Amino acid sequence: MSAETVATAPEKGPRHVALIMDGNGRWAERRGLPRVVGHREGVQALRRTIKAAPDFGIRCLTVFGFSTENWSRPADEVSDLMGLVRSFVGSDLKRLEAAGVRVRVLGRRKGLPADIAAIVDRAETQTAHNDRFLLQVAFNYGGRADLADAAQRLVDLARAGELSGDVTEEDLGLGLSTAGSPPVDLIVRTSGEQRLSNFLLWEAAYAELVFQDILWPDYGAEALGQAVAAFGSRERRFGGRDAVEDAAPEATTVKAAV
Ligand code: FPP
Repeated sequence: MSAETVATAPEKGPRHVALIMDGNGRWAERRGLPRVVGHREGVQALRRTIKAAPDFGIRCLTVFGFSTENWSRPADEVSDLMGLVRSFVGSDLKRLEAAGVRVRVLGRRKGLPADIAAIVDRAETQTAHNDRFLLQVAFNYGGRADLADAAQRLVDLARAGELSGDVTEEDLGLGLSTAGSPPVDLIVRTSGEQRLSNFLLWEAAYAELVFQDILWPDYGAEALGQAVAAFGSRERRFGGRDAVEDAAPEATTVKAAV
């Protein structure tokens, strides 16, 4: 499947794709290499995928970079992953900014090493004016933690007298770190594992799920095209009886950020 094939009918393709980039460790282990090499190759795969995404009509990519549970990995692997974020932002931010990409980082800032929190802030500030493509990187992110934070925000608003009446889906959605991004149409997980692992729990409500038997470091335009094609073959009904051609309903009524 080439990018052109799908690009001819982008309105039928997913606008917002979320990726669980799984299999870096296995990719390295199968080659007798340290896991960090798999993560490094994973960054390359991420670059290829970001580059290919607009050709498929995708306007927003959300990738799972580091979960709230990943802190339990050995210290040297955690440190390798932090190092990769430092170097990714250091080497790619200018190019992303020039390409019209807005970068947004989902998840808790609290708990991040101070320099990473500063890097993340810089990436967001420096690209805030862009609107051609939205790249959301979930980092120190957990779906349950994000929902807990959204609930806490409602409690704080209520205590301040700024929330009255029943809590709506929109009220809650506004407190999620994805607030303002387009609804998630497609969630892809690589490596053959078939679970969400605490990723985008709220946002997954009407997303199509595609599981691909490819390790993340091998990912790129071809595999993304296959995922987009699988999405195109699904009938989306959003709880109704008839197929709906358009994108998923907003989890919140906030207008799309891109
Ligand atoms: C899962 O593979 C992948 C991760 C935990 C991290 C993904 C990170 C990157 C692709 C690179 C850094 C990210 C950014 C945003 C620059 P795994 O280690 O769980 O693989 P395994 O299941 O085969 O062990």
